[in-house]
Amino acid sequence: MAQFSLPQNSKIDKKAGKHFPAPAGAKNVQTFKIYRFDPDTGANPRMDTYDVDMSTCGPMVLDALIKIKNETDATLTFRRSCREGICGSCAMNIDGTNTLACIKGCDEVKGAVTVYPLPHMPVIKDLVPDMTHFYAQLASIEPWLKTDSPAPTRERLQSEEDRAKIDGLYECILCACCSTSCPSYWWNGDRYLGPAILLQAYRWLVDSRDEATGDRLDALEDPFKLYRCHTIMNCSKTCPKGLNPAKAIGEIKKMMVERTV
Ligand code: SF4
Ligand code: SF4
Ligand code: FES
Repeated sequence: MAQFSLPQNSKIDKKAGKHFPAPAGAKNVQTFKIYRFDPDTGANPRMDTYDVDMSTCGPMVLDALIKIKNETDATLTFRRSCREGICGSCAMNIDGTNTLACIKGCDEVKGAVTVYPLPHMPVIKDLVPDMTHFYAQLASIEPWLKTDSPAPTRERLQSEEDRAKIDGLYECILCACCSTSCPSYWWNGDRYLGPAILLQAYRWLVDSRDEATGDRLDALEDPFKLYRCHTIMNCSKTCPKGLNPAKAIGEIKKMMVERTV
């Protein structure tokens, strides 16, 4: 595969799409319209249409994608691993919403199922976005326990109350559904960290065992990294794990204020 990422807003060639009909005799047919981009040709993206016999298909959109790849069109490319909403690999835009293909039921969509890669990300191939920048932003907040005090002989203990503070944060699977639904991240993603990374940042800020809170807040004190969030709330609406990144961002802003009074 060529080392190439398609700019996020390249025009779709409406005439180039192919149609793959269901096998003869199929009675329970659902149509999938899927974004295709082939870096080897470099041609503009197109939408291919696949009619799938649902009587021989699993219930989730990921099942349909796997069936299409196995039986109809081996060139269709997408990421997946766990198929149970744990790894975050299969994040994509389905029926207009960012979600995980493995937990999105085909029957939740009325009519044809449209499938695009996560919005406003460069595309490597078909439904595979280039996550390089997202992961670099994650690395930038140093998402690990930082301590100065001597390591205890067994483990760093935490009260039940303090442990509860990371509930609703540690469950994040870094799927990027939230960040790629955030208008501020679309327009300023080069400098704004976005909801997923800020939720991760808060996860370490609020961990009672971490001893780098001041340094972490200093690193976020920046007009772009944190303050581009305008509380539009798309992030919290779209999170397939039911988390609330907008609230985490609000808590970071509160910590910023509290340390100056
Ligand atoms: S907060 Fe939710 S949507 Fe955002 S990266 Fe984590 S799991 Fe995905
Ligand atoms: S609340 Fe903030 S992070 Fe979430 S979508 Fe809105 S601007 Fe983006
Ligand atoms: S395949 Fe792992 S979250 Fe969907």
